[in-house]
Amino acid sequence: MSTSIDRRSLLIRGAAGLAASGTASALLGWDRAYAALAPFVHGVASGDPLPDAVVLWTRVTPHRHAQPGSGHGPAVDVRWEVSEDESFDRVVAHGRRRATARHDHTVHVDVTGLEPGTTYWYRFRALGVRSPVGRTRTAPAADADAAVRLGVVSCANYDWGFFGAYRHLAGQDVDAVLHLGDYIYEYGPEGPLGEGLPGPAAARHADPARECTTVTDYRIRHGCYRLDPDLQTLHARHPVIAVWDDHEIANDTWRDGAENHDPGEHSWASRSRGGRRAWLEWLPVRRTTGAAELRIHRRLRLGKHVDLWMLDERRFRDQQPDSAAFSAGSVDPTRNDPGRTMLGTKQADWLCGGLTKSEATWKVIGNQVPFFPTVLGPAYPGEVSAILEPVSPALAHEAVTQNVDDWDGYPAERRRLVAAMDRVRDVVILTGDVHQSYACEIPRDAGTYAVTGDSVAVELIAPGISSPSLSTIVAQFLPGADLALDAVEGSNERAFNPWIKFRESSRCGYLLVDLDAQRVRAQWWLADDAQTRRSPVRLAHTARVGRGTHRIS
Ligand SMILES: [Fe+2]
Repeated sequence: MSTSIDRRSLLIRGAAGLAASGTASALLGWDRAYAALAPFVHGVASGDPLPDAVVLWTRVTPHRHAQPGSGHGPAVDVRWEVSEDESFDRVVAHGRRRATARHDHTVHVDVTGLEPGTTYWYRFRALGVRSPVGRTRTAPAADADAAVRLGVVSCANYDWGFFGAYRHLAGQDVDAVLHLGDYIYEYGPEGPLGEGLPGPAAARHADPARECTTVTDYRIRHGCYRLDPDLQTLHARHPVIAVWDDHEIANDTWRDGAENHDPGEHSWASRSRGGRRAWLEWLPVRRTTGAAELRIHRRLRLGKHVDLWMLDERRFRDQQPDSAAFSAGSVDPTRNDPGRTMLGTKQADWLCGGLTKSEATWKVIGNQVPFFPTVLGPAYPGEVSAILEPVSPALAHEAVTQNVDDWDGYPAERRRLVAAMDRVRDVVILTGDVHQSYACEIPRDAGTYAVTGDSVAVELIAPGISSPSLSTIVAQFLPGADLALDAVEGSNERAFNPWIKFRESSRCGYLLVDLDAQRVRAQWWLADDAQTRRSPVRLAHTARVGRGTHRIS
């Protein structure tokens, strides 16, 4: 048995033992993790697969006091190697990097010269020790007639539960995992959902024991999450294509602030820079050097059937209309301002232009917040909305909305994207954020959909990995009230939101999406109870979309 296998099983056992202690925050927990796993305490990862390249990641902990965010520890030489086989008899690429405190001792290697659609194994070596072995896979060649399978995840709140859905997805055979954001949560232990709300029944507490507001805090938080054995297993098994959402910095982030940001918590500029810097250090993302501005929105081609746009819906967006925090029934007329943007003009132009030019079978959008309209009353046909707007702007355009942090808060830009989708065919929007599972058709016009059934795209929404849905939170306040909420939401959907074809509003899990020349198949794999360690994860629902139909069946 090779050293690497020994260390990998040690990693899993060691990290599992650490998690079993109930908290990673105790110094003892760190000491145990360090003793079992050093210097590769946080495992290995890969991401952003291209046909000939993939990004490899690790963090080196040079000594016990060089915890994430500490700034401690000397520079360390790190060797890396990539092999066609798990025993490393056929090494095809290797090299060296230096891990330094400047980047929190994280290491990124953009390995090039690889073969398309190929599985590889990789490992690192530092301070005389080999890392656990990671497995990764390059993207299919752009003209390859390749079926593509993607895992889709978001919203892993450490304090609200366990990451069994990550562990289960690690066991699936996927080309890549899309992480649509809320990889970490910024909250302190006093309120994982904000001040004054009750916490989860089965809590564990992330380090640091305070709300994250500085680059040091965010580095510590990422380091804590990455001690989780299920998350380490997922990263070691599949390449991840990640974008941030709001909680990588603060709840309901927009361009110049966030709902969960107060002026006393450092300047927004320094806080957001810190959160984004830590994310770039700790996620296996390809860095764009020389770009005039930090840019994470990007397109990846996965064979001839999938063009994938990963969006950034936080860095450029205008502020949410009023009632952004718990925003049921926002009637803020600024919502309908035609100049409002979530993507920023450049990103919106880039997406619309790319959709129009794409020749892939499926145009897939890695989208953070729900795109489909949710209305709390009858939606008016577009022509009627236009007439009503000067008279009653609050009700114009899809009536009163439910959540203005999602696309319902940016209806003008959504209409622009709907028009672009209407010009191309077979757009599939993959979404996270909302901690519920949905399969929806995107109506061409919400006000006439009930009669015409016209849709321009489909949206498939992954539940949270461990973050609670609204009904989970309600159930915690008042057991049984979640059932009433579910009934109300269900009747509202039937009456006013007929484009919603499937909703599951209580369980955590992940989404598995298969795309080929003829159809998309989506499977929702849900955990019985994410607040229970080792909860079973089961296939809960399957939906299909035939090519050219924009229909969920
Ligand atoms: Fe979330």
